[in-house]
Parts: sequence; C-alpha cells; structure tokens
Amino acid sequence: MKLEIKPLGDALGAEVIGTDLTKPLDTDEAHAVDEAFLSHHLLCFRTEPLEPSDFVRVARYFGDPQLQLIRTQRHGETPEVSVLESTYKTPDDKPDDLESVRLAGWHTDDSYFEVPAKATMLQSIVIPNEGGQTKFCNMRKAYEDFPDERKPDLEGLKAVHGYDTTRAPGRPKIRTQEEIDETPDVEHPLVRTHEDTGRKSFYFNANRTDRIVGWARQESDALLDEVYTQITAPKYQYHHEWQVGDLLLWDNRCLVHSVNVDYPVGQKRLHQRILLKGQRPV
Ligand SMILES: [Fe+2]
Repeated sequence: MKLEIKPLGDALGAEVIGTDLTKPLDTDEAHAVDEAFLSHHLLCFRTEPLEPSDFVRVARYFGDPQLQLIRTQRHGETPEVSVLESTYKTPDDKPDDLESVRLAGWHTDDSYFEVPAKATMLQSIVIPNEGGQTKFCNMRKAYEDFPDERKPDLEGLKAVHGYDTTRAPGRPKIRTQEEIDETPDVEHPLVRTHEDTGRKSFYFNANRTDRIVGWARQESDALLDEVYTQITAPKYQYHHEWQVGDLLLWDNRCLVHSVNVDYPVGQKRLHQRILLKGQRPV
C-alpha cells in the first residue's frame, strides 16, 4: 500500500496511512514521514498498541529518546518509555474545578529543561468512553498572524520557565530531591526559530512560563496573557479524538497541547510516551 498523508484539519496535523509500524519503515517511507512531520507538526499513525521495545524502535526514526524527569513514570525494563496513567480512580480524584488538573493546561513538554524535548510520541493503550481528547494549538501560525508592527517588540525577549509557576491553575507532580536538583529555572526565547525549517513561532508554556526576563510582574503578565490568548484561538486548534493504539508524534517546538480532563471516574485512561531529544531553543 502506498503511503498517504491526509491532513487532519486546517490548523495542524495529518494522518499517515499505509505504514506498518510493527515492521521497519523503508528509507523512502521514513523520508516522506519526516517531511510530513515538518510541514504538519503532528502526525497520527493508526496502529495497535506497540510493545515498549517496538515503540522505541519507531521513535528512533525521528530522533533519540530521552529519559523523562519523574522516575516513577519510567517503564521498568524500557526506561525511555513513560507510562502515563490519568485515570480518576475515585470521585475525590476528579476536582470540581477541572482547570486545576495540571494536564488541562496548555503546555509544551519539558520546557523547564535547558534543552527541552523537540518532539513527543504518545500512544493510547486504554481510553475512556467519552472525553479525554488531547488538544493542540499551532504556535507557528499564531506567531505568523500576530500583527507585524508588534513583532519587533518581541525580538530578543526571554522568558523564565520553571517546574511550576503561580500563573498556572494546577500544580505539577511532586519531585524528589534528585529531580528538583535537575530542574532549576531556565530562560528560553519567547519567539523561537525552528532549527529544521527556519520558521519562527511563539514558545510558551502556560504551566511553566513564569515571567519575561527583566520585566515587572504586571507588565510581564499582561504580555504573557496576550500570547496565551493569541496561541489558543480556536482557529489554531486541533482536537484529537483517541482510538486505542493511535500513535501521535508532535513537534514541541511549535505546538502546545492540553487534555480535555472531563472524562468519567473509574474509566481507565492510559498512554505510553517517548520524548525525543532536542536542541537549546534559539
Ligand atoms: Fe504533555
């Protein structure tokens, strides 16, 4: 079957049809998939849940897997794979204020690292009957549409990303001392240039971006709020309705994502994830 790239909407994303991820891709396929990734920023492969070792093999087509910070989420035998369970096991686990669930915040993975993951691969293993969609926004388009006369004001601005910020409504996972030592605050450009395409986009994380370096809190909050509103406009969004086995690969350099955390208590929601090493944002 010939490989087909089918866009998933106007904002971002494409489905890759005609690949069999349980077997190695040939060079032409890998090249076509790579190109599609750079133009659509998110790819969806419909497959069966993969064994962790197969999942790592697929990840290596696109980059080098890196370990995730929180040790308890690493898969025992294949530590590059994170096991992410987001089930509400009891009614108490699901708060009335769903915004306070950390997964609901618009974020780009791992931006609290000096060198954040360039891409994430996420595969669904078990999904609830309703809700639980993962939503994405295209920060590249949001930047391109930002008024040209305002763009010079953003040039050279850096923002502090921390493991947590009081700007986010939800709190993150608790870190061990070892994990705290690995995650001091870092600075990243507010507008970053994609190293593979040369295109600019906002680089922002509602869960981690705390302030603009050198700016007073009020002024900084006003600009970060404006960036947030700009990137999360509905026209830049794609919402992924999961089927079991769907494997998404997305570009953390120009997308943010969040989860519709309104799904039933007691219904399992389980994914496996691999982060791919990136470069320092510029
Ligand atoms: Fe994430």
